[in-house]
Amino acid sequence: MDKLIAEAKMAREKAYAPYSNFKVGAAVLTTDGKIFTGCNVENSSYGLTICAERAAIFNAVSSGYKKFTKIAVVTDSEPSASPCGACRQVMFEFGDDIEVIMANLKGDIKIMKINELLKDGFRLSKK
Ligand code: THU
Repeated sequence: MDKLIAEAKMAREKAYAPYSNFKVGAAVLTTDGKIFTGCNVENSSYGLTICAERAAIFNAVSSGYKKFTKIAVVTDSEPSASPCGACRQVMFEFGDDIEVIMANLKGDIKIMKINELLKDGFRLSKK
């Protein structure tokens, strides 16, 4: 867990957040022990911003990894920040058992399962 948080912290330093000044880093752990990271990337057209959690997950999926056990999210906020709804749904896509580690630079840590953070998430089913 410490390594995952450390990786998320390093990813946070790469955040591009000139509009909000709120830097976020994330690191996702695959079932076979690999770590992929992401940071938030903002845009002058604000709605095009991508969150750190989704950047990390898309980074992993783009490299061929789709099964995750944990994701760490690091912010400089008190309390540590909780993932937005869009990111929760993206996490849920890759398992309802993912452990979400919410940490801040001060060292506060909160851990919840994705199925606690997102109750009854959307799954596509055909009739
Ligand atoms: N942000 C994330 O990276 N993850 C979240 O779960 C919520 C918000 C980013 C988006 C934006 O760049 C900044 O934080 C402020 O909303």
